[in-house]
Amino acid sequence: MATALALEDVARWRRDWEFMMCHYQPDRDDLLTVGLQLLGRPTERVLDVGGGPGTTAEAVLRRWPHADVTVLDVDPALLALAETALPQVRTVRADIGSPRWLPLAGGPYDLVVLCHILVYFVGCGFGGSLAPVWMCAR
Ligand SMILES: C[S@@+](CC[C@H](N)C(=O)[O-])C[C@H]1O[C@@H](n2cnc3c(N)ncnc32)[C@H](O)[C@@H]1O
Repeated sequence: MATALALEDVARWRRDWEFMMCHYQPDRDDLLTVGLQLLGRPTERVLDVGGGPGTTAEAVLRRWPHADVTVLDVDPALLALAETALPQVRTVRADIGSPRWLPLAGGPYDLVVLCHILVYFVGCGFGGSLAPVWMCAR
């Protein structure tokens, strides 16, 4: 039986996550915010591949508050953080190392976000090909 997560724990774990990620990419929130601002076209459906606890999805929702956002990740604990913090977001548990991930992703999407995830595509047997990602974009 699933146990509800306390909102304050979720907020702390997501803050800790961002603190850790900023070690690898200083100013990442600013970079993401500016990057998303530069995308001028309407963005209704967004897929965040390997979106972890949904902190990138949160930036997407700041840019497009009414966007239909999906966070896809292999880790159920991280997805639980995303679901609790962002109930309006759809989460999908899928392994991008498996060919089944693409139909599970439920495209097509206007925007597919890959933030600190490309290394996993190289390592999971796609030979570095990003073709499956393009196939879920419209
Ligand atoms: C470095 S983190 C980046 C997370 C998020 N994009 C961000 O910028 O905060 C990599 C993410 O990829 C996910 N991941 C790793 N291998 C994966 C796989 N085979 N399929 C789906 N997600 C995977 C991890 O669970 C983790 O959430």
